[in-house]
Amino acid sequence: MCGIVGYVGGQQAAPLLLEGLGRLEHRGYDSAGLAVLSSGKGLKVTKLAGRVRALEAALPKRFGGKVGIGHTRWATHGPANDVNAHPHLDATGQVAVVHNGIIDNAAALRAELADEGVELVSDTDTEVVAHLVGRSDADTLEAKVSAALRRVEGTYGLAVLHAGFPDRIVVARNGSPLIIGVGDKEMHVASDLAALVRYTTTVVHLADGEMATLTATGYSTYREDLSATDRRADTLDIDPASYDAGEHESFMRKEMLEQPEAVERTIRGRLDERFGTSHLGGLDMDARDLRAVRRVKVLGCGSAYYVGQMGAQLIEELARVPADAEAASEFRYRNPIIEPDTLYVAVSQSGETVDTLLAVQEVRRKGGRCIGLVNVVGSAIARECDGGVYLHAGPEVAVASTKALTTMYVGFALLALQLGRVRDMSIADGKRLVAGLQRLPADLEEALALEDELVPVAERLARAESLFFVGRVCGFPVAREGAQKFKEVTYRHAEAYQTSELKHGPLALIDKTVPTVAIVPEDELADRNVGALHEIAARKGPLVVVTHPGVDLGDVADRTIRIDVPRNEPELDPILLTVPLQLLAYHAARHLERDIDKPRNLAKSVTVE
Ligand code: AGP
Repeated sequence: MCGIVGYVGGQQAAPLLLEGLGRLEHRGYDSAGLAVLSSGKGLKVTKLAGRVRALEAALPKRFGGKVGIGHTRWATHGPANDVNAHPHLDATGQVAVVHNGIIDNAAALRAELADEGVELVSDTDTEVVAHLVGRSDADTLEAKVSAALRRVEGTYGLAVLHAGFPDRIVVARNGSPLIIGVGDKEMHVASDLAALVRYTTTVVHLADGEMATLTATGYSTYREDLSATDRRADTLDIDPASYDAGEHESFMRKEMLEQPEAVERTIRGRLDERFGTSHLGGLDMDARDLRAVRRVKVLGCGSAYYVGQMGAQLIEELARVPADAEAASEFRYRNPIIEPDTLYVAVSQSGETVDTLLAVQEVRRKGGRCIGLVNVVGSAIARECDGGVYLHAGPEVAVASTKALTTMYVGFALLALQLGRVRDMSIADGKRLVAGLQRLPADLEEALALEDELVPVAERLARAESLFFVGRVCGFPVAREGAQKFKEVTYRHAEAYQTSELKHGPLALIDKTVPTVAIVPEDELADRNVGALHEIAARKGPLVVVTHPGVDLGDVADRTIRIDVPRNEPELDPILLTVPLQLLAYHAARHLERDIDKPRNLAKSVTVE
C-alpha cells in the first residue's frame, strides 16, 4: 500500500514527484506529501489529507529544490489527516522520511523517544525513524540511517532526506519494494515501476536488507551494515504507454478490454499441440516431480483466492489430484500441516500481498514446495517461491482486478494440463483443452462485446442496496468473484452464496428489493439451478441470469435478464462467465458515479497484515 517517489538531478523535483505520485495513487490515496531540499535553504515540506491533486494545489509557489521525496498514503497507524501524512520530520526539521510498511516495535520506540524528551507529533510508526536518524551522531547520512534501522523491527521501503546532506537521498528496503531508476545525470526511486517508466526503463531492484545512496551522478548499493553490494542495473523491455489509461475513461475499463491480449501473452510459447499439454519451465519440476504431487493447496487473498478456488476445482477435475484453495490470510494462523507431497500454489497479481507472502514463508519454513502464479516480475512472492509461472497480464492499475484474475485462471489451466498429462488425462482431452485455450482470447472478445447489452442491467442493479450472487460448484467461486467486484466498486452490499444453500437461510432476505445475479452454466446442474431460481422468482426477487445459450430457463425467464456468453470448453466456463460480472460491476459503479479506479478504503496491493 502507500507509494514512494524520489528524485535527485538537474530538474526541479516537485513537478516530477507529483507526476510520479499521481501514477502511484492506486496504491493508497488518503493523504499525500512532498519534501524538497535545496542547498542552503533547507527542507521544505507540504503534506495533507486528500488526493495528489489537492497536494498539487496546496504547494506554495516557491517550492524549489532539485532533490526530493514524496508519498501517497493508505492509513495504517492513525487516521488520514495532515499530521499523519508523510513525509515525517525529526524534531529539528532537518530530516524527512517517507515509508511504506509497518514498524512493529514503533510503540516501544515512541515510548523511549518520549522518555528522552522528544515530542512526537503524529500517530504514525514512521515518525520514529525520522527521530532516530536525526538523533544519530554518525558522520554520514548513510551511517545515520543504518544506525536508525538497527533499532527498527518490521518492514520498510523508505527514503530519507537530510538538510545537512543536500546532494543525496538514502533509501532502504526490507519487505516493501523499492526500485531505483537510472537516468541521465539524474536518479529516481519509487516503490513501483509505474512511477519510473516515463523517465527510464533502466532500473535496479533493491533486495531486502539493502540500502542505496542516490546522487545526481549515480547510485551505490550496500547492506545495512554499510558493506558494499554490487547491484547492477537492468534495462527492462516494457512499453511505458502500458502504464497509461490512454483514451479509456478508467483503468478498470482499459484492463477489462485488455483481457484477450493478456491471455494471449499468458499462453504464448506454453502450449504443446502435439502432446496436448503445456510447458511451464519456470516450475522447475520434471515429470517425476509432477507425478509425485499427491495434493494441491492454493493460497491467495481476496479475488486471487476466489480464482484460486476456480483453479483448484480445475486441477482436481483435470489432473484428478485432490486440490483446494484457502485464504492465505488465515492459513498460517491455524498451524497448518505441511505435507512433503503437496504442491502449494501462491497466487497473486502484485506479488506483494503480505498475507500471501507470509503463507509462502510458512510453507517453505516447514519444508514444503511452493510455486507462484504471479503477475509482477521479480516481486517478493515470486522471489520467495521455489518456482512458478509469470502471468504476463501487463501492468494492472485499477484497484479492482480484472485482467490479472483472468490470466491467473489461465495459469491454473496450464498447470492443470501439465499435472493432468503426466497422469491419466488423455491426449485427446489435452488437445481439446489446448484448442480451447487458443480460442479463449477470441471468446473473451465476444464476452466483452456484451457490454452495451449489460449497461441497462447494471444500472438497474445499482439501485438495490443489497444483492445476492449465487452459483454452484464451478459457478460458486464465479459468484464470489462477481459479488467481490460489485461491492468493491459500487459500495453496495453484495453477498455470494451457493445456490443450493439459499433455502437454508438467505431466502428469508429475498423480496422485490433484493436482486439476485445467478450463474447457471450449461452443465449437469443446470436444471437444479433453474429450480432454485423459481424459488427466488416466487418471492418476487428480481433475477439476472448469467448463462449459456443451451440452458432452458423456462418461465422463470420473464423475470430474468438473460445474458448469453460464448461456449468454449466447459473447463473454461468460469472465466468466461466472470466477464459479464465485471461489466455489471463496472457499469453499476459508473452509474453511481463512484471513483472506479480508486474505491474508498482500498488499495491496489495490501502489504500490511
Ligand atoms: C481484487 O479486485 C481486489 N482488489 C483484491 O481482493 C486482490 O485480489 C487481493 O488483495 C489480492 O491481491 P494480489 O493478487 O495482488 O495478491
